[in-house]
Amino acid sequence: MKILIVGSGGREHTLAWKAAQSERVTEVILAPGNIGIAAEPKCRLVDISSDDIARLRRFALDEKVDLTIVGPEAPLVGGLTDAFAQAGLRVFGPSQKASQLEGSKAFTKRLLKKYDIPSGDFQVFDDYDEASAYLKSITGPIVVKADGLAAGKGVYVCKDRNESLAALDAIMKQRAFGDAGDVVVVEECLVGEEASFIAFTDGKTVVPLAGSQDHKPAYDNDEGPNTGGMGAYSPAPVITPEMHERIMNRIMIPVVQAMEEEGAPYLGFLYAGLMIADGVPKVLEFNVRMGDPEAQPLLFRMNSDMIPFMTAAVDGTLAGMEIEWAPEHSVCVVMASGGYPGSYEKGKVITGLGEASAMEGVKVFHAGTGHGPDGIVTNGGRVLGVTAKAPGIAQAIDQVYKAVEKISWEKCHYRKDIGKKALNRD
Ligand code: AMP
Ligand code: GLY
Repeated sequence: MKILIVGSGGREHTLAWKAAQSERVTEVILAPGNIGIAAEPKCRLVDISSDDIARLRRFALDEKVDLTIVGPEAPLVGGLTDAFAQAGLRVFGPSQKASQLEGSKAFTKRLLKKYDIPSGDFQVFDDYDEASAYLKSITGPIVVKADGLAAGKGVYVCKDRNESLAALDAIMKQRAFGDAGDVVVVEECLVGEEASFIAFTDGKTVVPLAGSQDHKPAYDNDEGPNTGGMGAYSPAPVITPEMHERIMNRIMIPVVQAMEEEGAPYLGFLYAGLMIADGVPKVLEFNVRMGDPEAQPLLFRMNSDMIPFMTAAVDGTLAGMEIEWAPEHSVCVVMASGGYPGSYEKGKVITGLGEASAMEGVKVFHAGTGHGPDGIVTNGGRVLGVTAKAPGIAQAIDQVYKAVEKISWEKCHYRKDIGKKALNRD
């Protein structure tokens, strides 16, 4: 099989690395990929942007690609799956209509309410004055979100009225996220422990992956601005076997059924971002794709071949399939450019990559790297996802940080407490 993977980050490196291990796969082509992926067996890059659906389709037809896997949300929300399907190409990913689950927070909140799937209370506004009057009428913490895609930055968790009005201003008046802020969703501020629950689905059957936990804030102890994710680990002890059942029965299966009833059957990775408190999981958001950096620890400990799950999802034959997991724990630490998620410099020479990669149970996934005159250099905010696997969570943490400490560049930044939440309860 010839596989095309759309995207260029750490998630895509992990998907490519995993796909290439499949005996069924002869070649993995990344559009546009990154230099870390180019060095993997069976993998090559093609210089087509992940948003250029017309060129991607032409390429997939010319190359006779057997299966396309879409990493990021933007091409899915942009209709890649529909465009490919019209040309008879097979894609593991939801249609444009089904991608509203991530593309419109108002759509999702209304769907959850209609089908009685647990989530926080909310209001939707398309008028600034009405939203502002509402925010002035409430006291205490509240969450203000741009309705549309905002590259993970359209969410403001506000502790008081000043902050919520400033958030509304940024979204609707300054139009920080363009059209994505034409509508705002104001949500009850949920408290508890966050977890990521990701599954393969063919629109009827839900095959869950193991639980995982991301670390969104930039600094230790969950302080600082939100990022795309600074590290993740799997399994997540907050998702006990009972909690796993509850999430499947109250959230994952009902939402897949709801999408079918709404005439938007859902196929692909389905990612629920959850807040768990007092044994109750509530939905914060859905993503219509694999998580980044959750992909790194999850796929690093997935023993099963990933490709049969994807082809079965496309064929509607997932029923009865189950994933085999390595018993080990895995942890990924994201190494970022100093300044991220704000502005940062690129082109810093990275040292120690070879030494870290040679360590037992360690894999260095690339996210934002490039070639410079003096070797591999930084080329993005999130630069590397250093990932380790070990029999216990404490050992995995120990091993991953040993690897991280071998790697450096000027103004490199990473969190020192990835996995600590799992450790504290062991
Ligand atoms: P999202 O992109 O919707 O996942 O939001 C990003 C982050 O904002 C989440 O991972 C949470 O940490 C936080 N967040 C989003 N919605 C809420 C909410 N209703 N209550 C509390 N925190 C939230
Ligand atoms: N790790 C969060 C995300 O992929 O959205």
